[in-house]
Amino acid sequence: MIVFENVSKQYGVRKILDEISLSIKPMEFVSIVGPSGAGKSTLIYALIGAEKINTGSILVDDYKVHAMSEKALQLYRRKLGIVFQDYKLLPRKNVHENVAFALEATGTPQYLVNKKVDEVLETVGLMDIRNHFPYQLSGGEQQRTAIARALAHDPKLLIADEPTGNLDPKATEDILELLLKINKNGSTILLATHDKQIVDTLQRRVIRLEDGKIKSDMAKGSYDSK
Ligand SMILES: Nc1ncnc2c1ncn2[C@@H]1O[C@H](COP(=O)(O)OP(=O)(O)O)[C@@H](O)[C@H]1O
Ligand SMILES: [Mg+2]
Repeated sequence: MIVFENVSKQYGVRKILDEISLSIKPMEFVSIVGPSGAGKSTLIYALIGAEKINTGSILVDDYKVHAMSEKALQLYRRKLGIVFQDYKLLPRKNVHENVAFALEATGTPQYLVNKKVDEVLETVGLMDIRNHFPYQLSGGEQQRTAIARALAHDPKLLIADEPTGNLDPKATEDILELLLKINKNGSTILLATHDKQIVDTLQRRVIRLEDGKIKSDMAKGSYDSK
């Protein structure tokens, strides 16, 4: 459960998030849309505790994200799956190692690491190329590796900020299908995107941000819903 209450964030005098209130239930698939500069990424940074908000509160299950120390935030972020437009893969590690690294970093025993990596690579459809290095992968495959890495800790919430921003239409469609599958498997999905195609295909909840404010929030929205 995610609850934003009157969340505002400003840089200088400019309000980037302006009294945002919203709530998202477990298993929802929610798209945040809006023009470039609307505040989508800032909303996500606030949600993961990477940006401090000026006023309001952000609750995620039992976490009071707005009030947590940096140390507590680090532990909180491990519970989340987070995917960005750029894949942030380690160039000297292959697909398997990139995913394994995320688990090893948190002290998961080796036999569990291998089991989990196989499982998530299966989910994203990369078992065949598990030994390839990032430079040998297409953009779509790199993003699927990043998604596999995000899934390694079994996140209840997967947050994706413009995950298809660098991808062609076919790879975009693959990522969309994958996100739907992950949602079906039990994760809540929060997707920030300005890709009209995706949002209109989804037919799920759409929250439209403009100038830091929620302009509309529709259960079965399209990209242009007002
Ligand atoms: N660190 C920052 N300092 C000042 N302004 C910022 C900073 N980060 C973002 N902004 C501004 O906040 C606004 C919203 O940005 P962002 O959340 O990235 O929008 P979106 O993801 O919807 O494109 C933009 O106008 C951007 O220039
Ligand atoms: Mg953005």
